[in-house]
Amino acid sequence: MKNMKRRNFLKIGGTILAASALPVSMVKVAFGKEKAKDFTFAYISDSHITHIKGNKFVRNWDRGLIRAVAETNLMDPKPDFVFYGGDIAQLGKAEEIDHGLEILSGLNAKTHYVMGEHDYYRDLGEYWQKQLGPDHYSFDHKGVHFVVLNSILTYEKWMHQKWESGMHRMKQMARLDNPDGQPFMVGDKQLKWLKDDLAVISHDTPVIVFSHSPLQKIHKGWNFWTEDAEKVQALLKPFDKVNVLYGHVHQIQTNQIGNISFNAAMATSWPWPYPATYKQTATYLPKLTVEMNRADPFFERDATGWQFIDMDTGRVDVSYVLPDNENRVVGYDSKAGHPVEKKQGKSQGEDMKRKPAQKHY
Ligand SMILES: [Fe+2]
Ligand SMILES: [Fe+2]
Repeated sequence: MKNMKRRNFLKIGGTILAASALPVSMVKVAFGKEKAKDFTFAYISDSHITHIKGNKFVRNWDRGLIRAVAETNLMDPKPDFVFYGGDIAQLGKAEEIDHGLEILSGLNAKTHYVMGEHDYYRDLGEYWQKQLGPDHYSFDHKGVHFVVLNSILTYEKWMHQKWESGMHRMKQMARLDNPDGQPFMVGDKQLKWLKDDLAVISHDTPVIVFSHSPLQKIHKGWNFWTEDAEKVQALLKPFDKVNVLYGHVHQIQTNQIGNISFNAAMATSWPWPYPATYKQTATYLPKLTVEMNRADPFFERDATGWQFIDMDTGRVDVSYVLPDNENRVVGYDSKAGHPVEKKQGKSQGEDMKRKPAQKHY
């Protein structure tokens, strides 16, 4: 981790900025000895902009995204680009997507997007694609191959059945533990595209995959799950270094499956509890994930905190700064062959001399 702290990346490190835990990730892609090639990008996810009526939106979710944009613009070094991890909208309404994009238009860097299920299921992604373009694509940047997948598709038959309205379909998909829910999937069309896309990439090229849902299976009832995850993993298997970064789960998750490291981004909106606390159905929270404390419900930004992700030597170190939770560092241990919890720093609440609210759990 090399003592990287979020403050090192802010051009203005004054009291106000240092005291606030803002919901954005700085990702450093490092090439070991070839330091001249190193670069950074920022990662923002899951804003869930919620329309009330007219020009009224839920304030808290607006504020999370506004603050993420502000902090991204202050990062030093300036990120080469920004990646947005999906779920701009809460119910896929055009008003929500437009309002979110208006806030995101304040970013000083090019932004790439992935589709979230909350952006998709009202109109099957039509408005999102009209505003943002294709839902899966790849690009190369300074020696790294980036792949963006739409991982929140499901069975065609379910999507295209006779729905009372698109909003009804959206709400069905948004419901947790829905007995009529459907699993997310990448689908055969994209798998074929991915196979062709990767066919021309040499296996020593670092590959970074962006998806919205985890490209692994954690908890089906909440769709912390991608049904055809193993097929995607198989296509990525020949590569030396692969990192998958995803949103959707609104919490810290870490895993290693073969050559693939997985890291989740926290949300700018709210934190989800861990599925392990809800035992109605089987959960497969990765053994390598050390859970965050439960968020303080009286502090609106708790556990929507800041992350620093350092991909030194092609693997990922993640530093989480959580306002009233303990700071966390998860880093790749080359001897163990997987990410490990490296240390716990003091909470930013302590930094701020801010007395955390009483906790009773
Ligand atoms: Fe989300
Ligand atoms: Fe989501």
